Amino acid sequence: MATPARRGYNPKPVEKHSLVRMGQMTRTALSLFTSAGIGDLAVRRSGFDILVSNEKLADRHALFAYNFPATTAITGDVWREVGRIESETVRRLAGRELDLLYATPPCQGMSKNGQGKLLSAVRAGRKAPLDERNRLIVPTMDIAERLRPRMVLLENVPEMAKTLILDERGRAVSIPDYVERRLGPEYVGGAEVVEFADYGVPQCRRRLITVYSRSGPIKDRYATARTLMPPRTHSAEALPDTRPWVTVRDAIAGLPPLDAGSRASATSDVPFHRVPTLDTMKYWWVENTPPGRSAFDNQCQACGFAHNPKHCSARDRAGINRASRSTPLFCGRCGAMLPRPSVERDGKRELMHGYTSAYKRMSYDRPASALTRNLSYACSDNKLHPEQNRVLSLREAFRIHTLDRYDYAWRRADGVKLSDKTIREVIGESIPPAGLQAITDHLTAICADAKSPWEDAGPLFALQNSPSPA
Ligand SMILES: C[S@@+](CC[C@H](N)C(=O)[O-])C[C@H]1O[C@@H](n2cnc3c(N)ncnc32)[C@H](O)[C@@H]1O
Repeated sequence: MATPARRGYNPKPVEKHSLVRMGQMTRTALSLFTSAGIGDLAVRRSGFDILVSNEKLADRHALFAYNFPATTAITGDVWREVGRIESETVRRLAGRELDLLYATPPCQGMSKNGQGKLLSAVRAGRKAPLDERNRLIVPTMDIAERLRPRMVLLENVPEMAKTLILDERGRAVSIPDYVERRLGPEYVGGAEVVEFADYGVPQCRRRLITVYSRSGPIKDRYATARTLMPPRTHSAEALPDTRPWVTVRDAIAGLPPLDAGSRASATSDVPFHRVPTLDTMKYWWVENTPPGRSAFDNQCQACGFAHNPKHCSARDRAGINRASRSTPLFCGRCGAMLPRPSVERDGKRELMHGYTSAYKRMSYDRPASALTRNLSYACSDNKLHPEQNRVLSLREAFRIHTLDRYDYAWRRADGVKLSDKTIREVIGESIPPAGLQAITDHLTAICADAKSPWEDAGPLFALQNSPSPA
């Protein structure tokens, strides 16, 4: 049974809908790689009117269009749509300046160790092993160069800092260096890795946040503080200036229990609070998995022997982490099959290939690990509920992603029914908006303090403190 949420933690927003109503918005924004607009919820609540957005995939953008009806949504490949994005933005600006370019190019092409490979290939005169998807920063910077936003905010995986692309002249350059060069000396800023749990998000999610600005107050702040990120509000350890990390328990408490053993017990009356059922074998692995552990370490249910070797992984000679192949599936004392993930191969039951993070229960007392598009798959990393026999429901995922703090309807503007798969993908590829809002609120507050250049910011900013989880 879930225990009550920690005292003082209020997972609901102080105000569900922003005090910044459309008519009061004074700052202008353009959103690229918008997907369904999860990050844009933060941008909007920080007081930006998102004039134009671009996203390649129609099903995601239809969700955005429903939730942001006043935005001109341009659906299509950014390479092809650059001209239309620019001209529509200029039209919607109607003589005003563009305050923010918010761009979140996809991260599938960002490699942890691609830099060395790329450099040696380029030096050896071979064709560089480039991932074209990383070059989406090129049209982004083309747009920035022409629209000259007061501020550029990019969000991506930390690997972006090390990812190399070929620039217009075929030279290998890191994405941060490329961004700085394209923006030119008028802009000041940099990139920083941010842990979103440090801003009260019940999820550990590290992202590279890049901010550049040509606005005086922000440049001044950067010159003195050398950072444009807000001070963290939460931390893993109890510190005088921070509150403890918000945990999974805090986030999902109070929802009815579910059980993946049958269709009846896997659903509830609460919208989106339902989970996929597990077949009998998988359910057996899961129901025998203790809190905080993986089903790969389960012990014998037949004789009670609790010292069968646990699953482990180790680095091979090439330095690659590999799961052990010698972890037993049968009890060393009585020979019975252990409730560990297994498959049938050539008529024999064998341990499934997988790391100890697969079929693992998440901890109640920490933030969740980063939600991915696989959040409904028990076999994926750290996806089991802390104590119930199931994965997280979508409703719980919304809370862990801080979506419950915003008005967001899971509906498409074109009326087409939305699949759970699209919802999972959209969540897995976005950042929790409350974490991003800590940053966008901080940036707008820097300008508000300076009373310029966003002149009419005064009364608006007074209303703009982010809803804070206690
Ligand atoms: C990391 S996700 C963006 C997340 C989004 N900002 C949010 O808050 O939910 C990147 C998005 O870029 C889109 N994308 C990929 N290639 C694109 C292209 N060539 N043109 C436009 N959008 C593209 C993907 O479909 C994906 O939705």
